[in-house]
Amino acid sequence: MSMLKVMAAAVAAFGVLAGSAVADTYPSRPITLVVPFSAGGPTDTVSRLVAEAMGKDLGQQIVIENVGGAGGTLGAGRVAKSDPDGYTLLLHHIGMATSVPLYRKLPYDTLNAFEYVGLVTEVPMTIVGRGSLEPTDLKSLIDYVKTNKDTVTYANAGVGSASHLCGLLFMSRLETPLTTVPYKGAGPAMTDLVGGQVDFICDQTTNTTSQIRAGKIKAYAATVKERLASLPDIPTAAEAGLPDFNLTVWHGMYAPKGTSPEIVAKLTAALQKALKDPNVVKRFADLGTTPSTEAEATPDALKAKLVSEIERWTPVIKAAGVYAD
Ligand code: MLT
Repeated sequence: MSMLKVMAAAVAAFGVLAGSAVADTYPSRPITLVVPFSAGGPTDTVSRLVAEAMGKDLGQQIVIENVGGAGGTLGAGRVAKSDPDGYTLLLHHIGMATSVPLYRKLPYDTLNAFEYVGLVTEVPMTIVGRGSLEPTDLKSLIDYVKTNKDTVTYANAGVGSASHLCGLLFMSRLETPLTTVPYKGAGPAMTDLVGGQVDFICDQTTNTTSQIRAGKIKAYAATVKERLASLPDIPTAAEAGLPDFNLTVWHGMYAPKGTSPEIVAKLTAALQKALKDPNVVKRFADLGTTPSTEAEATPDALKAKLVSEIERWTPVIKAAGVYAD
């Protein structure tokens, strides 16, 4: 065997050794988890609970970095171009799929820019209004919106966000386009809703439950087939007169493409453990959601979900003819 071949084999063996040696000591410093929406919102709430539990298991702090804007695509783009060393991760939701048809010039190739760690949770949504909004039930909200379509304001977390998608479905069902007020996240949108600056939003229970319980906002319906144990007084959309209006927001964790399989496997194992953590389970239930199962918190399950959701939403968004750029 030529000297060159021997050296090439040695270098390759060293690479693998180095890779697994690195994986053995991973993580040796704090990890950054990018949340592509503002602090205090639904995705931030889920991320902080999971990060704390995963950090305990991995023996290193997981620090949240909020990179809001463009419906979550700015934060996703930040991670797509990060070093694949396991120290920069992303927790994003259904927006990862809807941004594919919505943004014709995405700064990354969604299906090829990331490694998949696993699914995290699937959060129901609620249609809610500012506390002083006149309508007291969904039917009268729909009439109110149609009558005042030139003045009613609908808040969302940017084109491609879950609140944007739910709003799009609601407006197309009512055949009534409305004035939308975009934010960098549902966190600041909720602050303005409670303050009465905007009229209504369809938002995740992880962001609305505490405000609904405190009586600070009006709740009209939950976008699920069965009532939520955490909000038993809130009717389903079907019960409230809007049949087949079901939408839940799945969330997944990603790493930059090229992150080693050993490191991804460690992250997946830590995620699975975190989703069984009693505090995470209790907090999720209190916020109207449940952790993904062990089978769902896997790379294959997340990839399959992303692929099927891109296929599901592309025709819907194309039919609506709304694009972010
Ligand atoms: C957020 O955390 O702000 C959201 O997930 C917003 C959204 O997608 O509606």
